[in-house]
Amino acid sequence: MEMDNRSSSKRRASGSNADLLDDEENVGLGCCGWTLVILSAFFALLPCFWIISVFICPKVVKEYERAVIFRLGRIVDKKPKGPGIFFILPCTDDIVKVDLRTVSFDIPPQEVLTKDSVTVAVDGVVYFRVSDPIKSVANVSNADFATRLLAQTTLRNMLGTKNLAEVLSDREAIAHGMQSTLDEATDQWGIKVERVEIKDVKLPQQLQRAMAAEAEATREARAKVIAAEGEMNASRALKEASLVIAESPSALQLRYLQTLNTIAAEKNSTIIFPLPMDMMSQFMNRK
Ligand SMILES: *[C@@H]1O[C@H](CO)[C@@H](O)[C@H](O)[C@H]1NC(C)=O
Ligand SMILES: *[C@@H]1O[C@H](CO)[C@@H](O)[C@H](O)[C@H]1NC(C)=O
Ligand SMILES: *[C@@H]1O[C@H](CO)[C@@H](O)[C@H](O)[C@H]1NC(C)=O
Repeated sequence: MEMDNRSSSKRRASGSNADLLDDEENVGLGCCGWTLVILSAFFALLPCFWIISVFICPKVVKEYERAVIFRLGRIVDKKPKGPGIFFILPCTDDIVKVDLRTVSFDIPPQEVLTKDSVTVAVDGVVYFRVSDPIKSVANVSNADFATRLLAQTTLRNMLGTKNLAEVLSDREAIAHGMQSTLDEATDQWGIKVERVEIKDVKLPQQLQRAMAAEAEATREARAKVIAAEGEMNASRALKEASLVIAESPSALQLRYLQTLNTIAAEKNSTIIFPLPMDMMSQFMNRK
């Protein structure tokens, strides 16, 4: 009884459940508690209660589960039981099973105002698992729900500090930042956040239209510049060609004949009167 009083006064003084878990495990039961435990074990072993004991005492937990045992309200062991079979005492013991498998959930679409005042709807997926069954039972009343809520608020907080461009391009970094923030916060609930993914970023319709128009205009401008540049290159090439032709008069004559050839092949119904090159050269000389 004395021990019980001491531990309860200590608990009151600190006002935290951390102390409750830090106490030596069986000290907290006290004399009264021990008597009950021994009585319970005694009755469980009595032949006349065997039939009942056979149904109550053995407990089986699966490969992916662990059991936290409460004996008269105290956590019995620092380590959870399982997997496999173990025995509990009837009446005094109570077990809570904890699933260790990874759980995933959707973060519902969150309407977030980015740093540059654009409203976007963002949703994501979070993967987490219980890493410490005792903490997940003793420190938080519903670990799963708590993690969900925290994931939502963390998503909002993270996106509030980013510009729209960053939200659209840096998803990986945002997801990574969210994962470490969440994991830090859920650590004392015995929960390990393994992965966070940002699924979708939805922009408002008007903004989508504006961005599409902007992209189109940019592309159009670039096309125009390229066309103009091509024209410039072509004219430069033409100028070079004319310089080469001017160097030797027979080159011009060859070009002339070539042109005639082309016309003759394409419009063969037209009658062509070739102009003597000598007349042309007369003109050129006069110049
Ligand atoms: C959670 O439990 C652990 C012991 O299992 C303790 O050290 C820790 O302080 C607890 N955290 C809170 C917030 O109670
Ligand atoms: C024009 O010529 C320059 C080099 O003289 C070249 O880099 C550029 O790509 C050309 N432009 C086009 C449209 O071909
Ligand atoms: C004249 O041109 C037509 C097409 O315009 C072509 O089919 C035909 O073969 C040409 N004739 C000769 C003799 O080249």
